[in-house]
Amino acid sequence: EPITFPPPLANAGSILIPDAAHPYIPPGPLDQRGPCPGLNTMANHGYLPRNGIVSSADIINGAQEAFNVDYNFSVALASFALLSRGNVLLDLVSLGLESPLVPPLPGNLDGIPGGLGKHGRFEGDVSMTRQDYALGDNIHFQPDMYDNLLTYVANYSDGNIVTEAVFEQYRYARFEDSYLRNPNLTFHSGRHGFGYGEAGFTLNFFPNAKEGNLTVPVMNSFFRNETFPEGWYRRATPFTFAGVITAAGQIEAPHPVPAGAKNSSGVYVTDPTSASGICGLYANLASQNVPAILLNTTGTLLQNVNTLIGGVYKIFEPFGCAMVLPTGPA
Ligand code: HEM
Ligand code: MG
Repeated sequence: EPITFPPPLANAGSILIPDAAHPYIPPGPLDQRGPCPGLNTMANHGYLPRNGIVSSADIINGAQEAFNVDYNFSVALASFALLSRGNVLLDLVSLGLESPLVPPLPGNLDGIPGGLGKHGRFEGDVSMTRQDYALGDNIHFQPDMYDNLLTYVANYSDGNIVTEAVFEQYRYARFEDSYLRNPNLTFHSGRHGFGYGEAGFTLNFFPNAKEGNLTVPVMNSFFRNETFPEGWYRRATPFTFAGVITAAGQIEAPHPVPAGAKNSSGVYVTDPTSASGICGLYANLASQNVPAILLNTTGTLLQNVNTLIGGVYKIFEPFGCAMVLPTGPA
């Protein structure tokens, strides 16, 4: 069946999350969880299917409902998740790694979909609470990294309120660490944008709207336990892509870091797409990070590919970017 995006949810204000229909149930051994604390939390409460095998509509509806992610932004994130690491014919992606429920496309076109935890395309280096793929566990929460983040809350704030100043420093420290230790460091425009964006997600999605500021106990709940805190209200207005671009820019401003990657001689080479700002980020994500072979299809499969390409474009069109098509390797 061809993919159609569900319409926007009617209520975009602050509500108590979870409601009675979405209790926390810890994941079972076969349930897929991955590198995103937001999606993991949603699945642990049934805002996404609890087995962690999700459709584009599941992500679009779940992200709006649980965290008040803007509709177009939800569509774009879901579309990129499906295009990069899902099965676009079945409209399914694993939140973690590969699953028999998300088989390869007919003809094994793009190999095994892998899931959002598979390194490259979406999951990438310089994460805040997961290690670089070349250095360790890039999927599961790493308590030692998070404890290090908390020392930044103590040193750059009051030890309880998580401020932008904390991420200005911590995010830069994470880059320096990867730059020094990871011989395969890959931090292209797309991943660079997401990396800073995810710090912006932490500051803008995780606070309890009743409290205003993000506190350490609330942040603990999401990162350590992947559950909504008691009495938690989602943000009062949808958080848009434009909002995350602004947040990411502010977090990076005190210590700018070039997007790039190490070459075979270990030299960090700037990503040329980074010269073109947001449209360069878009080109890196939607062109270089999505396999070209997806265009070489027919029928419902090609229809879905085109729908999802349009879904990603939704957030870049307002920035005046021309639409790009997948050119990446399988
Ligand atoms: C990281 C996917 C929504 C918070 C990630 C990563 C993926 C991902 C694949 C791993 C990137 C990496 O660090 O290497 C998605 C998708 C979403 C979504 C497809 C669709 C709506 C959200 C939401 C939140 C969130 C709503 C917050 C409420 C985060 C954070 C990280 C992250 C904080 C960084 C974790 C770290 O650096 O240790 N996301 N995400 N995400 N996501 Fe999401
Ligand atoms: Mg990562």
